[in-house]
Amino acid sequence: MSEALQKLEEYRSEAMTRLGSLDAVSADGTGLADAEARLVEIKNLSVEFTGKKSRLAELKKEIGKVDGDSRAAFAQAVQSLERDIHAALDSAESRLIARIASLKEEREAVDVTIPGRRPRTGHLHVLTILRQKIEDIFVSMGYAIEDDREIETDYYNFDALNIPEGHPARESQDTFYTTTGLALRSQTSTVQIRAMERRGAPIRILAPGKVFRRDTPDMTHTPMFHQLEGLCVDKGITMAHLKGTVTEWLKRMYGADTVTRFRPSYFPFTEPSAEFDFSCFKCHGTGQFEGERCRPCKGAGWIELGGSGMVHPNVLRACNIDPSIYSGFAFGFGLERMAALMFNIDDIRHMFENDVRFLEQFR
Ligand code: DAH
Repeated sequence: MSEALQKLEEYRSEAMTRLGSLDAVSADGTGLADAEARLVEIKNLSVEFTGKKSRLAELKKEIGKVDGDSRAAFAQAVQSLERDIHAALDSAESRLIARIASLKEEREAVDVTIPGRRPRTGHLHVLTILRQKIEDIFVSMGYAIEDDREIETDYYNFDALNIPEGHPARESQDTFYTTTGLALRSQTSTVQIRAMERRGAPIRILAPGKVFRRDTPDMTHTPMFHQLEGLCVDKGITMAHLKGTVTEWLKRMYGADTVTRFRPSYFPFTEPSAEFDFSCFKCHGTGQFEGERCRPCKGAGWIELGGSGMVHPNVLRACNIDPSIYSGFAFGFGLERMAALMFNIDDIRHMFENDVRFLEQFR
């Protein structure tokens, strides 16, 4: 054996000992980071064993220098060494690449059978839902939604509404006063005055909003609550228009078989005045539901809702509208009571305690 061949064989055994240890680079049991580090290691070994400065490259160059007789054998040996080195490197590399791919797949796997996380969406407050429903009905009848201030003067809360100083109606509507003589409005009727001053006649408005009274909170009272006020002023408006409008609204709310009832009453800002009731939405006026006394109407068959009447001439005059030319009707009612009856809420204070367990029930 030529000297060159002998040297080559020596190198082969050295190289294959080192590369042979790559067989132990088992694909199993390695973590992703480990496997990736080993892959880098193999790239480095590949440079060391097959690169331009490798012993293999040197050996290839030496082929030409070997004597004619032994050159072919030497060249064959170099080739065979090259094959073996590549084989050792390639098999370790492909095992690691496969391992890395499967580890990545495991890490990125999505279990499509896990139930999704539903985002918690917000929703409107029960009173807002009810208010908007009523607003929609009145807007469809040509009413404009009128919004106005909650802090008022005595004039708008009382005087202009034909409730002069010392009138007993002021007593029942005690509210919260500021030190500068202003007060939180005790009724949305104030908006009648504001709107007529601003727009004159004819006018058709629906005014929703907060009102305030000095009430001790209990199941049916809160010092802040909501009212909806309606006003229609035009030439030739009569009580028939009032009854027709209120009846149409309640039929659209509670069904075509709903009937209304107007009972004579008194309000300083209307003459004549009436309270209005409608046939119970649950028992349809029978007072009985599933063989028992109907709850919302307490067996009466009727639900009392609000106050109404023909706008008092003094109120029109206060807004510079001539009562000999124009007439109108107005009505007002509380939203909380209506919501409590419709949704079977036994205590209206729940509506303002911001407990989502309560609020979530009304979407
Ligand atoms: N403002 C009255 C109240 O708070 C309700 C009311 C009654 C409003 C008769 C009206 C009406 O517009 O005509 O008790």
